[in-house]
Amino acid sequence: MPFDRSIKIAPSILAADFANFGAEVRAVEDQGADWIHIDVMDGHFVPNLTFGPPMVKALRPHVKTVMDVHLMISPVDAYIDAYADAGADVLTAHVEAGPHIHRTLQAIRGAGMKAGVALNPGTPASAVAEVLDLCDLVCVMTVNPGFGGQSFIDMTGKIAELRTMIGDREVHIEIDGGVDAKTAPLVARAGADVLVAGSAVFRGGSVEDPAPYGENIRTIRASVDV
Ligand code: DX5
Ligand code: ZN
Repeated sequence: MPFDRSIKIAPSILAADFANFGAEVRAVEDQGADWIHIDVMDGHFVPNLTFGPPMVKALRPHVKTVMDVHLMISPVDAYIDAYADAGADVLTAHVEAGPHIHRTLQAIRGAGMKAGVALNPGTPASAVAEVLDLCDLVCVMTVNPGFGGQSFIDMTGKIAELRTMIGDREVHIEIDGGVDAKTAPLVARAGADVLVAGSAVFRGGSVEDPAPYGENIRTIRASVDV
């Protein structure tokens, strides 16, 4: 996984057909997705439940790009090996999920994955200041996590602050929640390079008619290029 700061669109399968994840992943990748974002929720850290390691492992052969797993679970550490075994390329834990994010990020890297740390909208950039050398990605939530399709919360000040804090480190800034062609340019200008988008990518298309996925991805990409 070579590092670069070009814009990457990461469709969130939370907005895909839950009965057809394998085909949905193949369809969005064929239509130009750069990464695949997989939202794991536990009904405890966030008020919603999705799926766990066996589902992520089953998806692995379908993902040709980067499998980006976002854990909205607490506690995290007991599950790290299961996600390594499932084949996650990037494993992201929330800084709010427990008292030992430092240990968690070390354990994620120790298990052979890229380590991500996510911040809820109410958490300041300074919460990750001491772990920037231990991570490969900082995920700035632009919604309160738990559901797709929510409205974007402006975090551009926090994104710009993180971009300065990160400096020359090879750390991605990922934005998650309410990203579409209106909000993508704001976050890209502030310093983000990985744009997660659920509804804005999957809207209007299906496995049988995937062309809208491609149009949606191109629309977001074009909004950032201007
Ligand atoms: C929110 C999830 C997001 C979500 C994004 O809890 O982490 O990844 O699926 O969905 P949209 O793009 O619809 O806001
Ligand atoms: Zn997510």
